[in-house]
This record gives sequence, C-alpha cells and structure tokens, in this order.
Amino acid sequence: MRRRAATATLVALALMYFALSAGGQDSYGAKVLRDGPLSVFTISARSTSRKVLMQSCARNVPTEEVVLVTGAAGFIGSHVSTALKRRGAGVIGLDNVNDYYPRGLKRARIQKLKDIGVHTVVADLNDAATLRKILDICQVTSIIHLAAQAGVRYAVKNPAAYVHSNVAGFVTLLEAVAHTAPMPKVVFASSSSVYGLNTKVPFSESDITDSPASLYAATKKSDELLAHTYNHIHGMSLTALRFFTVYGPYGRPDMAYFSFANNIMKDKPIKIFKAEDGGELARDFTYIDDVVRGTIASLDTAQRSGKNQDGSKPPFRVYNLGNTNPVTVSDFVSSLERALGKTANRNYVPMPKTGDVPFTHADISAAKRDLGYTPTVSLDDGLKHFVSWYSKYYANGKNAEDTNYVPM
Ligand SMILES: NC(=O)c1ccc[n+]([C@@H]2O[C@H](COP(=O)([O-])OP(=O)(O)OC[C@H]3O[C@@H](n4cnc5c(N)ncnc54)[C@H](O)[C@@H]3O)[C@@H](O)[C@H]2O)c1
Repeated sequence: MRRRAATATLVALALMYFALSAGGQDSYGAKVLRDGPLSVFTISARSTSRKVLMQSCARNVPTEEVVLVTGAAGFIGSHVSTALKRRGAGVIGLDNVNDYYPRGLKRARIQKLKDIGVHTVVADLNDAATLRKILDICQVTSIIHLAAQAGVRYAVKNPAAYVHSNVAGFVTLLEAVAHTAPMPKVVFASSSSVYGLNTKVPFSESDITDSPASLYAATKKSDELLAHTYNHIHGMSLTALRFFTVYGPYGRPDMAYFSFANNIMKDKPIKIFKAEDGGELARDFTYIDDVVRGTIASLDTAQRSGKNQDGSKPPFRVYNLGNTNPVTVSDFVSSLERALGKTANRNYVPMPKTGDVPFTHADISAAKRDLGYTPTVSLDDGLKHFVSWYSKYYANGKNAEDTNYVPM
C-alpha cells in the first residue's frame, strides 16, 4: 500500500517536473517578449526549459563546439550567432533585451535566430543561477561575450548601467566560467575607445591605454584588466577584441550613421561634430561581416582553458578588429548619400564634451598575423548593404519606433 502511494507521488512529481520544465516554452522570456518593458534588474529566465536549451545547443556536425553568445539580441551578437549556427555549432544566446534602444529591433533579431534554431534566453548577465544552468545543461565549450551597455554619450546620463553590465556582469560571467569543468574559452568585446586620448596612429595593441575619455571606455579597459587576472589565476583562455565602429544591416539605432540615415530620409538636418581644433572627426568604420569573420577566427585560434602540468597556460590575447582605413564623417555621409540616393542637410557643430574621441585608426597587423583577419568590404559596398536592409525593414513606415528614435 505504502509502496503504491510512493509510486503515485513519484509519478505526480515527474508529471509536475515535465509540465514545468519540458513544456517547450521559455515562460519568463516569452512574457518579457510579449509584455514589453520590464526592469533589466528583475529579468530572470530560470524557468527556461531544459528541452529548449538542449535543442538550441545541439550541434549539426560531429564537432564538440557549443557556444554561448551573450548579447545575442544585439547587433554584433545576432550576426555572430547566425554565422556560428550556419557552420554547425550548437549555439545558445543570452540577452536581457533592455530598452537602451527600441526593443522591437532586438525582438526581430531574436526571431531571426529562432528561425534557424538558436534560442535566446532572456536573462541578465548578473543572474548567476541562469548562467550556471546554461553552462551545465549545454556543456558550453566556448563563450563569445558581447553583452554590454554600449554607447559613449549615454554613460554621462546613466553610469550605473555601465558598471552593472560591463563590470559586475562580466565578473559574474568569469566566476561562472571559473567554476565550470572543463572551463570554456572566452572571447569578449572590448572597444577601440580604450585608446582614449592616445595620439599615436595607427592604434596598436601594444600602445598604453591608460587614458580613457569616457566611462564606457573605462569599463571596457576594466574588462581587459579583469580578463588578465582570470587568465593569470585560473589559466582561463581569454581574448579581447577591440572593435572599431561596426556598421551594417540590423545595426544599432543609437549610432550616428543610423541617425544620419533616419534624418536624411526625413529631410531633417544632420549634426556633424567638429573636433576642438575645428578639424573633422574620423572613424575606422568596419563592416559587420568582417567583424564576424575576425571574431570567429579568434575563437578558432584560441587555446583551451586550463593550466598545463608544467604550469604553462593559454595567453591572454588582445586584437584590434578595425578596417585600418579611417574616413572623415563628412566622407562617410557622402557615401551614405550615394547609397540612399538622397542629399543630406549638413549642420556642423562643436563636439560635446561627453567622451567621444576625435579619431580612431586600427593597426590590424596582429589580427592579420594570428587570425588571418583581412577586412574585405569597402565603405561604399558596406553602406549599400546597410541601405538595402534599411529600405526594406522600414518600408512604408514599418518599425517606425527605430526611425523616430533619438539616442538617449
Ligand atoms: N557596434 C560597435 O561599433 C562596437 C564598437 C566597439 C565595441 N562594441 C562592443 O561590442 C559588443 C556588441 O555591441 P553591439 O553593437 O552589438 O551592441 P548592442 O547594444 O546591439 O548589443 C549588446 C546587447 O547586450 C545586451 N545586454 C546589455 N546589458 C546586458 C546584461 N546586463 N545582461 C544581458 N544582456 C545585456 C543588450 O540588450 C544588447 O542586446 C558590446 O560589448 C559593445 O560594447 C561595439
């Protein structure tokens, strides 16, 4: 009798477990996606089902590769996740889908990833329990860490968001990795902004980067220092990628080129910043496909995490991923005008003192040597691809929240 009751209880518990965990639905994530705004600090995805995770992590070819991509709903993260999935890796995304810029675009990227079998767990990087669950269930072998509070100027308005995501969130991730056996290797996004007030050109990885000009840059520099520490103590394989102004389809509406496109299409004036000495700002604009290739090459060339018997460990690596061909913002706008087939109404104004640097220029010889990285997409071609996506995605007033968005 007692045995029958115990069996019934076990069956009930098993049924409850399957109802709660294997229902194929990421209930919290689905709720966030459906209901919209939620404080990033309250988002958790502990209820993401094992089945959904396992499906997303499944590899299509006999490879051991299972990659966690943080910031998967973001611009670079969605492109990197797509490229990894296409080559047969198991891919699982994580993103808190915050409202720094319109969420509709992040949801569209999540949907595109879902269509190719990549699930994005809606959770904050600081949610250590969810990270643990993903690392364990998926047996993650590599992490491409792209989640961050991006943007230079917004750091003046909301510094806490940068410390929360870029510093505390990164440490939460590194701690989770340090407590995983075997430890995954980690490639993470730093930024060209770490060169700050550096005047030596082109910017080389061996340059001293002790003079950041913005809080954003300071948090990215902190990430590199934190990575050095975890590499030193745990032998964790870590690679920092200093991206240089990345643009392309599904790009970020808070970036200048996106606002330029919005304003040109609406016949509104565009603001072009002048440096303090009256000179033109210049940027090493880099097309997304080149950045994706460089990012994946950095993963492929990274050694496994862990110390060897003789005490040796994988190196902590830092690479510039730029185009090594800086263009003034005026020339950039001319190229954008050609791609859009419309003329901009240019308004030259002094640059606000909120942390932008006058120019960026990447020395990419180290990435070329070690990663085989060679950017191939010209600015004119890259902007044509961007405009081709832009004109379809926003045709007939669709997705207007992005085109009306004024960066915070
Ligand atoms: N795009 C560029 O030109 C550029 C240049 C230099 C460096 N970077 C760096 O590259 C990475 C990717 O940039 P992007 O352009 O794709 O930016 P993005 O803002 O489009 O993507 C970042 C994603 O991270 C998510 N996120 C932020 N904080 C989070 C948190 N605490 N927990 C979980 N998710 C969180 C956001 O919701 C967003 O979807 C970032 O680290 C950024 O700082 C980008």
